[in-house]
Amino acid sequence: MRLTVFGVGYVGLVTGTGLAELGHEVLCVDVNKRRVEALDRGEMPLYEPGLSDLVRRNVRANRLSFAASVSSPFEESDVYFIAVGTPRGEDGHPNLEAVFEAARSVVKTAKKPALVAVKSTVPVGTCDHIQTEISGANVRLEVVSNPEFLKEGAAVTDFFRPDRIVLGADSESAQRVLRNLYAPLQLSGERVLVTDRRSSELIKYAANAMLAMRVSFMNELARLCDATGADIHAVRLGVGSDARIGKRFLFAGPGYGGSCFPKDILALTALGRAHGVAMRLTDATHQANEDQLAFVIELVRKACGELKGKRIAVWGLAYKPETDDVREAPSQRIVAALMQSGATVVGHDPEATTNFVHAMKQRQLEVKVEGDSYDAANGADAVLLLTEWRSYRAPNFGKLRERMRGERPLVIDARNVWRADEVEAAGLVYRGLGTRSKRIP
Ligand SMILES: NC(=O)c1ccc[n+]([C@@H]2O[C@H](COP(=O)([O-])OP(=O)(O)OC[C@H]3O[C@@H](n4cnc5c(N)ncnc54)[C@H](O)[C@@H]3O)[C@@H](O)[C@H]2O)c1
Repeated sequence: MRLTVFGVGYVGLVTGTGLAELGHEVLCVDVNKRRVEALDRGEMPLYEPGLSDLVRRNVRANRLSFAASVSSPFEESDVYFIAVGTPRGEDGHPNLEAVFEAARSVVKTAKKPALVAVKSTVPVGTCDHIQTEISGANVRLEVVSNPEFLKEGAAVTDFFRPDRIVLGADSESAQRVLRNLYAPLQLSGERVLVTDRRSSELIKYAANAMLAMRVSFMNELARLCDATGADIHAVRLGVGSDARIGKRFLFAGPGYGGSCFPKDILALTALGRAHGVAMRLTDATHQANEDQLAFVIELVRKACGELKGKRIAVWGLAYKPETDDVREAPSQRIVAALMQSGATVVGHDPEATTNFVHAMKQRQLEVKVEGDSYDAANGADAVLLLTEWRSYRAPNFGKLRERMRGERPLVIDARNVWRADEVEAAGLVYRGLGTRSKRIP
C-alpha cells in the first residue's frame, strides 16, 4: 500500500518506519523542517532503541522517505495516518490544532478515496468531528480511530508485537483495509479489536488512566510506608502476587511523567467535566502524583538539611529509562526546586541531557550536566537517582563514596532499586521511598 504518516515524533516515526519494514511505500510528513532535513541526512531526531537501523534500511530500500508536505505520488495514498502531538491545552483539554491541521492537509492533497487513521490520542468524538470537517473534500475520505499503545523505549518491539491493535471504524471496507494492513503482525483472536470510533478513542485514555492510577496508588502507599514503618517492597510483592492484580506497574517512584500520562489524565478529567460526569479517580490520580513530587523534594530537603550551598548529583533525567524524552519528567520540577532552594545540581543521563538542558533553559535555569555519572558526583553531598537506567543498577558505591564529600554522603534512591545494606557498607547514607529494610528480590 501507499501510506502517508503525519508527524515524525515518537509515534509517527516508529509507525512509518514499521509499516515500511512490512513492505509498504511510506512518506512521513512533518511541519518541523529541521526534523525532516535531519532525517534526510540520516540523523535521528529522537532516541528510540533499534529505530535508527530500521530507518536507514528502509530509506535505502526506497520504501521510506520524509518531506515537509505531501508530495507526488503520495497524493494517492491508501491511508493517511495522523500521529501529531496533542499537548496539554486549556483546562486540561488537549490542544488538537495539529490534528485538525493535518486533516486539512489531507483534504488539500488527496486525489483518490482514502482512510484517515487517527493515531494521536484524542478525546471521544474527535474523529466524528474530523469526519464532518473534511466532508467537503473532492474525494471520499473516511476517518478511523487507531490509537497508539507503544511504550517509548520499547516502541519498535511494540510495533511488531503489540499487545493489541484497536480499530475504531464504522464501515466494513475501512475495517478490511486496516485488518489487511496489520495482518503481517499475525495477531490472533481478540488482539485486533474492531469497534466504533468513540469507544476506540476512550480505550486509549482508559488504558493510560488505569496505569497512572496504579502508579499513583503505589506512590501513595510508599508514603504511607514511610510514615508507618512498613516496607513498600514487601507490600508490592504481597499485593502483586494476586493474579487478579498482577505484578507490573507497581513500583513506587518520583511520580509519573512523559508526554502521555500527565496530559491524558487531565484530558479524561476534562472530558468527564464537559459531559457532566465526575471523574473522581483521575482527579485523585493527578493530585497524588503532584503530592509524590512534593514528597520527593521534601525527602531530599530533609535528608540534606539546608539545601543552600549543597551539591547534588542527579542520575536519570529522562522520564523513564531507554528514552531521551524529558517532557513532564519529574526531574524537571525536582531539579528546579532544588536549584531554587540554593543547591547546585549536576545531572547525568545516558541519552537525555541535551533535551534536559534545553527544557531547563525554558525555565530560565542553567543546569550543569556531565557525560560520566561518577563525574557528576564529584564533590557532591548527595546523589539522587530519578530514572532507573540499567547502567545505574549496580554502581560501584565505594568509588561513588570517594568522589563525594562530607562525612556521610547521601544516596537518595527515588526508584528503590538499590540495597540499603550495600550502599551503607560503602560509608554512604541510604534513603529510599517507603523502605527502610533490605530490598526483597
Ligand atoms: N510518545 C508516546 O509514547 C505516545 C504513545 C502513545 C500515543 N501517543 C500519542 O501520539 C501522539 C503523538 O505523540 P508523540 O510523542 O509522537 O509526539 P511528538 O511531539 O514526538 O511528535 C509530534 C510531531 O508532529 C509534528 N507535527 C505537528 N503538527 C503537524 C502537522 N500539521 N503536520 C505534520 N506534522 C506535524 C511535530 O513537528 C512533531 O514532530 C500524541 O497524541 C500522543 O499523546 C504518544
